[in-house]
Amino acid sequence: MQCSKNRKFVSIERELQDRKFAVELLNDVVIRPPCVTDGASVNALIARCPPLDRNSLYCNLLQCTHFSATSALAEQEGKVIGFASGYRLPDEPETLFIWQVAVDRIARGRALGKRLIFDILSRPVCTGVSMLKTTVTQSNAASQAMFDKTAAVLDAPHRRTLLFDRDRHLGGSHSSEFLISIGPFQIPGRDKSNRRK
Ligand SMILES: CC(C)(COP(=O)(O)OP(=O)(O)OC[C@H]1O[C@@H](n2cnc3c(N)ncnc32)[C@H](O)[C@@H]1OP(=O)(O)O)[C@@H](O)C(=O)NCCC(=O)NCCS
Repeated sequence: MQCSKNRKFVSIERELQDRKFAVELLNDVVIRPPCVTDGASVNALIARCPPLDRNSLYCNLLQCTHFSATSALAEQEGKVIGFASGYRLPDEPETLFIWQVAVDRIARGRALGKRLIFDILSRPVCTGVSMLKTTVTQSNAASQAMFDKTAAVLDAPHRRTLLFDRDRHLGGSHSSEFLISIGPFQIPGRDKSNRRK
């Protein structure tokens, strides 16, 4: 009994510390395109963020270099706490495809995921982007909520269709991936003012 009381106390204390830290957390977060020296930190962040697929370090290095302009990294005091990878579809350049979004557990629920996505969308490299696509699994409520809210902010319709089927495409070893298509939209504060010029 004593032991379980202590455990409960310790866990409440930790929760309070976590919340205090979380409130302070996003005050001095810097969001920027990743660079080559971020690859290993991104790889470690993804590993801390199940159920994301852990890609190779080599893959993360490519994201941090070839796809840097359409990816975003959040850091605080030199620690990587968020990452979103994306690219414009080669055959559909009006579409930004978001590959993965990862936010460290302690920083969740404070709009960092959405901020990463909007940071990419607001860059000059996304001029002309009017669609956002991504994939989600049925069981990932956080991911679905984040993209629902992204569609709401963009005031854009969104649709969901099956893209990669568990048995037909994923060898029965991974949940089906559903394609979320958001758009068409205008990027708030940018496309409209561009049109006026
Ligand atoms: C998904 C993830 C990136 C969301 O990051 P986040 O910074 O907490 O997301 P945000 O705070 O920007 O949330 C955006 C919206 O989704 C909602 N949301 C986030 N997580 C949620 C959850 N678990 N359940 C319900 N709604 C949730 C938020 O309430 C918020 O809504 P609001 O705009 O009305 O406040 C984060 O939970 C994560 O890294 N998960 C593990 C990796 C993963 O699954 N990535 C997504 C696949 S690409």
